[in-house]
Amino acid sequence: MEFALSPEQEMFRKSARAFALEELEPIAERLDKNHEFPIGALKKLGKLGYLGMTVPEDYGGSGADAVSYAIVMEELSRSCASTSTAVSVQNSLCNNLIVTFANEAQKKKYLPALASGEKIGAFALTEPESGSDAGSLKTGAVPKGDSFILNGAKRFITNAAFADIFLVFTSTDPKSGNKGVTCFLVEKGTKGFTVGKEEDKMGIHGTSTCELFFENCVLPKENIIGELNRGFRVAMVTLDAGRIGIAAQALGIAQAALDEALKYSRERKTFGKLISEHQAIQFMLADMRVKVEAARLLVYRSAWEKDAGLDYVADSSIAKLYASEIASEVADTAVQIHGGYGFIRDYKVERLYRDARITRLYEGTSEIQKLIISRDMLKA
Ligand code: CAA
Repeated sequence: MEFALSPEQEMFRKSARAFALEELEPIAERLDKNHEFPIGALKKLGKLGYLGMTVPEDYGGSGADAVSYAIVMEELSRSCASTSTAVSVQNSLCNNLIVTFANEAQKKKYLPALASGEKIGAFALTEPESGSDAGSLKTGAVPKGDSFILNGAKRFITNAAFADIFLVFTSTDPKSGNKGVTCFLVEKGTKGFTVGKEEDKMGIHGTSTCELFFENCVLPKENIIGELNRGFRVAMVTLDAGRIGIAAQALGIAQAALDEALKYSRERKTFGKLISEHQAIQFMLADMRVKVEAARLLVYRSAWEKDAGLDYVADSSIAKLYASEIASEVADTAVQIHGGYGFIRDYKVERLYRDARITRLYEGTSEIQKLIISRDMLKA
């Protein structure tokens, strides 16, 4: 068993940390307060190769391994979870889907611009009445000659207002449920496709989350990614990998909350001494550290399994479930250590507490992770 990171993985941590401290830490509070999308930071991340981590070098990507990608997600998330959400959607849900399921012509056409950050991607599975039960989606795509006509709506689509390329899951055989789902690539500006209003969210205020509308939107059959009626698997396999990125994001938020709590406990005095000298606070800090380190082992293990070509489906759900649950717990304890100051917006822990909450909801709620984990145990 080898716990040490490779020199390349260490290098990714060092450079992502440096970027986060220089470029994200100074803007994260502003993005949160103004609900501002970090388009400038994303362009810089693109130039440095962080938006093409899951893309092979032949298509303009960095060709990094999953462990390095998890480390980068962790480090960016310590400073700004809004930015890391956009990074995650680009790498895990958009680029990785195209790398895994698109044909050669589609890869050549779309990956270089996505990997460099010239174009932003989005993944559109969820609908107003289809979230956890992803196979019950209603957005329809009906064949007409060599094209398909899309009608329907999507909801909670991350990156939407800034995205150029949308991977949209549709029902192409409604009577067959999840066996009649097809993934289409839809470019911004396609006639009949519009992006709706921004959601006003509890946290990750710097992300863009909108509805999408399709009204007689005509797409050539060349825009199908993968096979007709085989799109549910495309979504599931993409989400399996994506959960490693979200688990790493939750880990980064939890680490940031621990960092802030430790710093504050060395500055704040009560009852005549630093609060770090009170055993009550020491116990809290110790509990936080144990949770963060356990989450890190689970996150890195699932990424390592992916790199080793092993089955990581249940383990990525275990990592995502645990890391997202402890992110909320650790952020909550960090607020507690800050006392009343933790409840005001001047302190980073207030943002971390709100941002942590989404990690238990997107890319599958905690309950969906438990379903995946229990199905894995119960299968014959
Ligand atoms: N990995 C690979 N394949 C899978 C899979 C997985 N995790 N889960 C199911 N499949 C396959 C099955 O093997 C089966 O394949 P065959 O048809 O070839 O036999 C097929 O998919 C259907 O499987 P089920 O009948 O088990 O599927 P189901 O309808 O019961 O649903 C589910 C399974 C796990 C609950 C699934 O609906 C699910 O994952 N739901 C959650 C969806 C989700 O995570 N949404 C997040 C939206 S995206 C997002 O949040 C992004 C963002 O904004 C940042």
